[in-house]
Amino acid sequence: MPSGKVLIMNNSLSHTQLVEIINAFLDKYHSDLSYCHGADHVRRVAKLAVKIGKVEKVDLELVEIAALLHDIGVVPLAWGRHASGKDDNEFQEFLGTYALPSYDHAEVGALIAERFLNQYNYP
Ligand SMILES: [Fe+2]
Repeated sequence: MPSGKVLIMNNSLSHTQLVEIINAFLDKYHSDLSYCHGADHVRRVAKLAVKIGKVEKVDLELVEIAALLHDIGVVPLAWGRHASGKDDNEFQEFLGTYALPSYDHAEVGALIAERFLNQYNYP
């Protein structure tokens, strides 16, 4: 896993590689968010989602990725309140000209997660 930039373009990743990239993203952008949206919370949700997914017999890789990205919308919405990201243009560049559709982190997160996964040609 390369250090530094976590939003690099790289197609044809395995599930494990994509999870590593998302975990690096979580470390970089979620670490100083509140307990309810921090990296530990996101990882806990992902573990529980996979556990439930095993019972429900669903695509566990898809569930894990979705759960790991479920709070990604909090990151840009929290820039005004937290230090992380404010001095780092990488995520802002990634967002580009995307206008955030609202202050609803679920709605913003869906938009960002789609863009995040599209860059890796994730189905
Ligand atoms: Fe959450």
